[in-house]
Amino acid sequence: MTSAPIADGVPRGRLRGRRIAVTGAASGIGRATARLFALEGAALALLDRDPLGLKKTAQETGGSCFEVDITAEDELTDAAERAAEELGGIDGVVNAAGIMFRGRAADVPAAEWRRVLEVNLTGTYLVTRCFLPWLTREAAASVVNIASAQGLLPNSPGYTAYAASKGGIIALTKALAAELAPHVRVNCVSPGMVDTAMADGHRNAAANYALKRIADPSEIAAALLFLTSAEASYVTGSVLGVDGGRAFH
Ligand SMILES: NC(=O)c1ccc[n+]([C@@H]2O[C@H](COP(=O)([O-])OP(=O)(O)OC[C@H]3O[C@@H](n4cnc5c(N)ncnc54)[C@H](O)[C@@H]3O)[C@@H](O)[C@H]2O)c1
Repeated sequence: MTSAPIADGVPRGRLRGRRIAVTGAASGIGRATARLFALEGAALALLDRDPLGLKKTAQETGGSCFEVDITAEDELTDAAERAAEELGGIDGVVNAAGIMFRGRAADVPAAEWRRVLEVNLTGTYLVTRCFLPWLTREAAASVVNIASAQGLLPNSPGYTAYAASKGGIIALTKALAAELAPHVRVNCVSPGMVDTAMADGHRNAAANYALKRIADPSEIAAALLFLTSAEASYVTGSVLGVDGGRAFH
């Protein structure tokens, strides 16, 4: 497996003065995103249901922690209010919280199907909705969601519920982009397999990718940074594949 290029790590202040909420911040892509965004000057509201992981990310980034379940609207409403008060407003949201589910369509218990849709799709929607009152007050506000190569090109048997939730995120992204323009840009990143806890036991998938390796979480964070920053000021409703070429391979 070839290795990921090492980013130079030189902060350029691309999010200086921006106040960003990141869900899933206790682990994986959300944590890598929080670290990169802090390096680029953002003040952060870190949301997750895992208090220990949240604390670790907060120590690394100086962000404020909000322990929430993204399917609980009342918890989110409260967290959004407290986050906006603490940071003096919210300019952006990165929806990185999510769960994986593997199981063929015929075998998926209905309760599991609902849970995957509830967390990945409805949770992404609820977080965005709860932060909207603050986003719409800011110039150049942004929401970035995380779909998946399984949503963009759902051709791997055994991922039906997950793929449906991620395909839903792609449609949600485009529908919200139309609805919230011109005040809020809404985009999503569609990663292939990423080296996080979610990929445990499946890291041998490198051959499926044109680049012959899975992604480092920092490579997804870099795409999230681009879409959140002013560099993407004319980008909305887009789905950026960050999947080592899986989508065309
Ligand atoms: N790792 C991959 O291969 C991969 C590939 C494509 C897309 N994604 C997506 O990227 C996102 C981040 O995944 P990751 O790889 O960093 O996984 P991860 O398991 O490392 O992190 C997910 C985080 O989401 C949090 N979370 C889950 N359900 C929650 C809930 N109901 N409320 C609050 N927090 C909750 C978890 O506590 C965890 O901290 C997910 O949406 C995932 O579907 C991951």
